[in-house]
Amino acid sequence: MNETPAVLFTREQIAARVRELGAEITRGFDGQELTVVALMKSCLVFTADLIREIPRPMTCHFLRAAAHEEAGAVTDIVYSTEIPFTGRDILLIEDIVDTGITLRFLLDQIQDRKPKSLKVCALIDKPSLRKIEVRPDWAAFEAEASPDRFLVGYGLDRGEHYRALPYIGTIARPAGDPAPSLKGGGSGM
Ligand code: IMP
Ligand code: MG
Repeated sequence: MNETPAVLFTREQIAARVRELGAEITRGFDGQELTVVALMKSCLVFTADLIREIPRPMTCHFLRAAAHEEAGAVTDIVYSTEIPFTGRDILLIEDIVDTGITLRFLLDQIQDRKPKSLKVCALIDKPSLRKIEVRPDWAAFEAEASPDRFLVGYGLDRGEHYRALPYIGTIARPAGDPAPSLKGGGSGM
């Protein structure tokens, strides 16, 4: 946990992009009240910044997805049933979309609860790793998938460390660490 990450997106780049994104999302929800649903804990910082760039009436909710790896697939995602999805205009905030398995699962779960509309904003999209056809409506940044680099900072963690970094950086993926599409362990994402 001592490695100093190499900067990928600076604090200033993130702030400028989040402002831009906030304006786009505001236009996308013209006159509607948003129900923001953010993934804990990795979307904590992104969500705090983004919602302040969306001057619309909104309520904010958090869900927790825990992924357990089994036979190469995410098999278990725990999430809160207390969120009022039905009939609402939902903005789901995700941290990283890589294989798309987590996002697809969440979208299916939320669709079952009959929202009026459902849109997704991701902090980082890694389209080259996609295994399931799913796209966020908005993404702050696109990043190349890399087998030997791991993104940290601005809420993203490596073993709960690095979340408070004001920038997004990369650290070496430790030897023996699962590839991005084979993460596991049921940790707080
Ligand atoms: P997937 O799209 O189902 O493969 O899962 C994406 C999830 O993997 C994200 O929500 C992150 O929690 C985690 N993840 C993938 N790559 C990284 C990374 O480089 N840094 C931190 N978390 C990552
Ligand atoms: Mg994590």
